[in-house]
Amino acid sequence: MQQFTVLELLSKDISLTEVEIRGWVRTFRANRFIALNDGSTLKNIQCVVDFESLDEDVLKRITTGAAIHVTGNLVESQGKGQSLEIQVKTLEILGDSDPETYPIQPKKHSFEFLRENAHLRTRTNTFSAVMRLRSALSYAIHRYFNENGFYYMHAPIITGSDAEGAGEMFKVTSLDVNNLPKNGGNKVDYSKDFFGKETNLTVSGQLEAETYAMSLGKVYTFGPTFRAENSNTSRHLAEFWMIEPEVAFMDLAGNMDLAEDFLKYVIKYVLENNKEDLDFLDKRLQDEDKRKPQAERNDMTLLEKLKFVTDNHFKRVSYTEAVDILRNSKPNKKKKFKYLIDDWGSDLQSEHERFLVEKHFKCPVILFDYPADIKAFYMRLNDDGKTVRAMDILFPGIGEIVGGAQREERLDILKEKMAAINIPEEELWWYLDLRKYGTAVHSGFGLGFERLVMFVTGMNNIRDVIPYPRTPQNAEF
Ligand code: 4AD
Ligand code: MG
Repeated sequence: MQQFTVLELLSKDISLTEVEIRGWVRTFRANRFIALNDGSTLKNIQCVVDFESLDEDVLKRITTGAAIHVTGNLVESQGKGQSLEIQVKTLEILGDSDPETYPIQPKKHSFEFLRENAHLRTRTNTFSAVMRLRSALSYAIHRYFNENGFYYMHAPIITGSDAEGAGEMFKVTSLDVNNLPKNGGNKVDYSKDFFGKETNLTVSGQLEAETYAMSLGKVYTFGPTFRAENSNTSRHLAEFWMIEPEVAFMDLAGNMDLAEDFLKYVIKYVLENNKEDLDFLDKRLQDEDKRKPQAERNDMTLLEKLKFVTDNHFKRVSYTEAVDILRNSKPNKKKKFKYLIDDWGSDLQSEHERFLVEKHFKCPVILFDYPADIKAFYMRLNDDGKTVRAMDILFPGIGEIVGGAQREERLDILKEKMAAINIPEEELWWYLDLRKYGTAVHSGFGLGFERLVMFVTGMNNIRDVIPYPRTPQNAEF
């Protein structure tokens, strides 16, 4: 007898009759039909028991959530809704459930409730589909870079520098926080700390990735990043995963081409390989839409939105052009935007980004050449002296999904920019060295992995696309 997953049973042309399978009971009806799920696929396998031949005690213990081991014959199903079923010969209870208290009952649960039960929520169709897609997307990402000559680089998670210069970092210390060593100025004496200096969790692996790009040529990171920004939104996490390619001898135009090609590849990958889960989530979103007022409904179904990205050229628009469009837009004139656009130089909010993508251009948009003042210090200054070679990619329903730039490769200008925002040269001496020894044009970007997973799955809250979300006031599990 051979052991199979449900996926194998249902997708293979199996001529074997006798099979063995383990999984969790989703439902048990009429003392006869078990819907068994093992996580390998959205689908359950129906196991048909002959209750007269089963021990009464065992029968009672077949409840939603229980883990069981079944052997039996795989046959064509007489019933509707499935092609194959198992006629059970033996059934063993591996782990009991408690029907009174088991949180995941076979009915609709709110996402809020499931967030509180995040340790069990992947036993639902929606969350198992989301997390299988998350896994498939990360595989597709590695595959893309592998096929395109990139090396995978592991940037450190504990760091002494603030890559984004935004000061939104979590401290890392082994000091006794109730009894901190102080120096003369009554400041904490970090020389006594584990690393002999102040350290934080990284906000980005970019600066280290740049050092590798300037030796290995084409590299990427894919790891956790941390931001202590207190933004309790549906698009921000305190711990999120970021993909950061960095390429030597590539300018901003090349960076845009790379990002567009990369995003299209990974989305096409799941369209081709994860159809079942995508179809399920597509239908989920359509059902959710039907319950909403007309004005709040999505213009496109999930699958249409994914094809919208793979089939459309990403429109490239400068920040200055975008601000002109926004300034003259209806929602700005009618004061419908929460943040009105008056002047050149202000940062764009997600309402503006979404207007550009969803209403104005109706295609993915790459905004570039942002004002230097609202972007990080490492971006290359343009000849106008006031904009930098930055780019943000905006997606429908999401807003910013990618942020990147051509990097400042000129030592003197980089030093000036660091001085202007008080980054000590000693802190980034190694970063400056790249500009001293064999400096060259180079570029890269960061893709927020959870924002990609949100886009691909149609989930509206970033807390629902990462196993255990970390957000302000919440680090359960
Ligand atoms: O635009 P950001 O801040 O860019 C960087 O960190 C650069 N160092 C990247 C690079 O050029 N190598 O962040 C990049 C992306 C954003 O576009 C967004 O998708 C995501 O990371 N992101 C977040 N995702 C979830 N929660 C947060 N708090 C996020 N902050 C940024
Ligand atoms: Mg950004």
